[in-house]
Amino acid sequence: MLRLQRTGAMPFGYEISGVDINAGIDAATRAGIARAFDSEGVVFLRRQALSPAHQVEFSRYFGDLEIHFLKQFLHSDYPEILVISNIVEHGRPVGQADAGRYWHSDLTYAAAPSRGSVMCAVEVPINDAGAPLGDTCFASAALAYDALDADMQRRLDGLQAVHRFDARYRRGAAKVELDAGQQAAHADAVHPVVLRHPVTGRRSIYVNELFTVSIVGFAEKDSRHLIDELCAHVTRAEFVYRHKWQPGDVLMWDNCTVQHLAIGDYGDARRRMHKTTLKGAAWASS
Ligand code: SIN
Repeated sequence: MLRLQRTGAMPFGYEISGVDINAGIDAATRAGIARAFDSEGVVFLRRQALSPAHQVEFSRYFGDLEIHFLKQFLHSDYPEILVISNIVEHGRPVGQADAGRYWHSDLTYAAAPSRGSVMCAVEVPINDAGAPLGDTCFASAALAYDALDADMQRRLDGLQAVHRFDARYRRGAAKVELDAGQQAAHADAVHPVVLRHPVTGRRSIYVNELFTVSIVGFAEKDSRHLIDELCAHVTRAEFVYRHKWQPGDVLMWDNCTVQHLAIGDYGDARRRMHKTTLKGAAWASS
């Protein structure tokens, strides 16, 4: 039976237990997971060790899947899976090595950004004491919105922001070579600064340090100032859950209400994660 638990380290989100995805999950269990995901933004299950096929099947319970445009990092048999890894095999990186090193939600540079993501931990680096490295941090942009004062909430009402894939280089992310088609498909995208959740209607701040470049209609300085202020606010410690991975973990996050950040503290120790991404939509204004 599905059980939800929140430990002291979690300002939001649930660990789900009592579920074995590999054994098959019934409609009531899927609905329970979907409800927790929509309301909390992060849910995870330990000891699942899903095969790529099972990950794709499980992810599809929650929506249609993206095929990520970074084709060079897709799983060779399951293109719905983006491989995030520092492992090099036969002289070739098996995945994207530096994904997510700055706070962001997935695909906000696209006209229809992602609704949510499912990540499976295949190989997790450890330190000399056996403790896991390569944590992922999750910030609730919904809790952060709730904590804004009423004046600021009113100020943000109706604002829109521009998001851009290339903006990641401003932050020092490693260059990814895009072909002409990939570049053309990723012109600037404009989204509301405050996003209304497509299922719950809850509001959250939809501006992130990796991809958001400007606020529509603002002078550059004011735009930068507001983006920096909102990004600093969303990622305050009280809104952040830091996930310590174990091999076999399955973790889902909601890209409408949660931003994430990968901690690159593991050097050459092997890390391999498989990510599927749920399709979203062109989000309407708040
Ligand atoms: C990402 O999806 O941005 C990367 C997350 C991770 O590798 O922990």
